[in-house]
Amino acid sequence: MLAAPALSAASFSAIRELIRAVAGIAMTPEKEELVKARLASRLRELKLSAYEEYLERVKTDRVELSNMVDVLTTNKTSFFREPQHFDYLVQTVFPIWKAERRPRQIWSAGCSSGEEPYTLSMLLQAHLPTLEVRILATDLSLRVLTRAKAARYTEAVVQDVPSELRRKYLRHVPGEGTFQVAPEVTSRVSFARLNLMGDWPMKGPFDLILCRNVMIYFTDDTRTMLAQRYAALLSERGVLMIGHAESLASLEQPLRLIKPAIYAR
Ligand SMILES: C[S@@+](CC[C@H](N)C(=O)[O-])C[C@H]1O[C@@H](n2cnc3c(N)ncnc32)[C@H](O)[C@@H]1O
Repeated sequence: MLAAPALSAASFSAIRELIRAVAGIAMTPEKEELVKARLASRLRELKLSAYEEYLERVKTDRVELSNMVDVLTTNKTSFFREPQHFDYLVQTVFPIWKAERRPRQIWSAGCSSGEEPYTLSMLLQAHLPTLEVRILATDLSLRVLTRAKAARYTEAVVQDVPSELRRKYLRHVPGEGTFQVAPEVTSRVSFARLNLMGDWPMKGPFDLILCRNVMIYFTDDTRTMLAQRYAALLSERGVLMIGHAESLASLEQPLRLIKPAIYAR
């Protein structure tokens, strides 16, 4: 493989500025090698020989700008990631929903390749099969949304699903070694592209919003702005879940912490 071209300080700084403006992501100077390596693949694909040419290209090419954001963002996710959140839902939130029996709306903001919304949907199917609950799942990256909509995962990925739910809601695809999420689980999830930094067309209110392991890459100002916007979209007694490595403490926002990484209006 060819070595990546040199990345000047000015170009690295321009790339950092662009990714912050487009996606809200604050990249530290330590990310220089990572940026260089990941964008080198885009340069090769486009047959460009310098990052400066690439920067010129993304100024006018929206598709390539989206590719750039794709390769520079982290999409790591898994089924039942941070299981304390799902335990809380099953033990505390679902019994209330079951008793009140009205339609509910959930938003998985920054859903990556779909494991998070499908985890929610499997649990709903298992615990509240007749309740009307819709899940909106959004992400900035078209690449992960395509994978999410396909709803097909490798054997290694589905290992995180408890065996009983795996048996019920994941169908083995013969000859492929992959698993397809069952229609009763996929049907309550709608995927859409949405940049959290832009306008939000949905009105809510949402009974539950998950924005987990997304805000970790944002500045405090962006986190504050997002927490305020989430609070405005939550129903009364609505819940916001963030990643356990994230915090809203010290930010000016109206939600109160009720459990680690769980906030309520
Ligand atoms: C690390 S994944 C987290 C996935 C899942 N929520 C979880 O906790 O497993 C972060 C996701 O946030 C998305 N993301 C980053 N910046 C975004 C933005 N400005 N708007 C929408 N999504 C964004 C990325 O594309 C990525 O798929």
